[in-house]
Amino acid sequence: MVTGGGSGLGADIVRALAAAGYRVGILDRDPGSARAVADGIADAVALAADVADADALAAALADFGAAPDLLVNNAGIVRFGALEEQSPEDYAATVNVNFLGSCLCARAVAPGMLERGSGHIINITSVNGVHPAPGIGLYGGTKAAMACMTQAMALEWGPRGVRANAIAPGFIDAGMSRPIYENPQARAVRSGGVPLRRLGEAADIAHAVLFLDSEQAAYINGHELVVDGGVINSVLAQLPRS
Ligand SMILES: NC(=O)c1ccc[n+]([C@@H]2O[C@H](COP(=O)([O-])OP(=O)(O)OC[C@H]3O[C@@H](n4cnc5c(N)ncnc54)[C@H](O)[C@@H]3O)[C@@H](O)[C@H]2O)c1
Repeated sequence: MVTGGGSGLGADIVRALAAAGYRVGILDRDPGSARAVADGIADAVALAADVADADALAAALADFGAAPDLLVNNAGIVRFGALEEQSPEDYAATVNVNFLGSCLCARAVAPGMLERGSGHIINITSVNGVHPAPGIGLYGGTKAAMACMTQAMALEWGPRGVRANAIAPGFIDAGMSRPIYENPQARAVRSGGVPLRRLGEAADIAHAVLFLDSEQAAYINGHELVVDGGVINSVLAQLPRS
């Protein structure tokens, strides 16, 4: 099950999972986009729910039929603007979708996974939760909180067969960041600052999901995998010696 699977990174994660043989649930608050992604995939199920609405989540899970083997907590929003200028509603919406929503989705699937003795939760965080950028309100804070909860889930649920990990994407040319990269100057500055000298693609994140959920990653639990071409470690490279 992929939350926010109706567009951007989520839609690519859905397609990659389906191509690898998973039966995929696409949960999105926008039923049209979830259906549009599901329409192209045999066996995919579109589920309409707001991740911050526990009752709607329970109903969507009942429609899915069973606890998923894998939950990808990908639904997320960003509100741009200075911290002191954002409204209380901006603050609440960011916390409710990114942090509370991810925790509620994990809480909704956990009993079934724990009863079965297997399952995996992957939380899509952000490099902004590791090293926050200015001008994006509480976004980085919610992602850092998700990373912390990933560790808490790994501790509580690992002994009962359920893993939890996180993926922190960097500068990705998709989804909520695509409008930024439509500006050629922003695109050149950002991609030039990445040690691998390119922006990330949604497929880079989908590949990380497939890896973390694979047998090869079976002993990885409570880890936040940064997928950013090296950019958040590059501060010394950005500052010339003279
Ligand atoms: N695009 C990037 O550069 C980037 C970088 C780092 C992290 N991320 C993270 O990746 C995830 C996906 O982002 P994206 O860029 O694909 O954004 P996006 O806006 O394209 O997609 C987000 C999806 O989540 C859905 N959604 C939003 N609020 C919801 C809610 N309350 N309930 C259910 N669904 C909801 C939207 O309808 C949409 O389909 C987010 O968690 C984001 O923070 C993205």
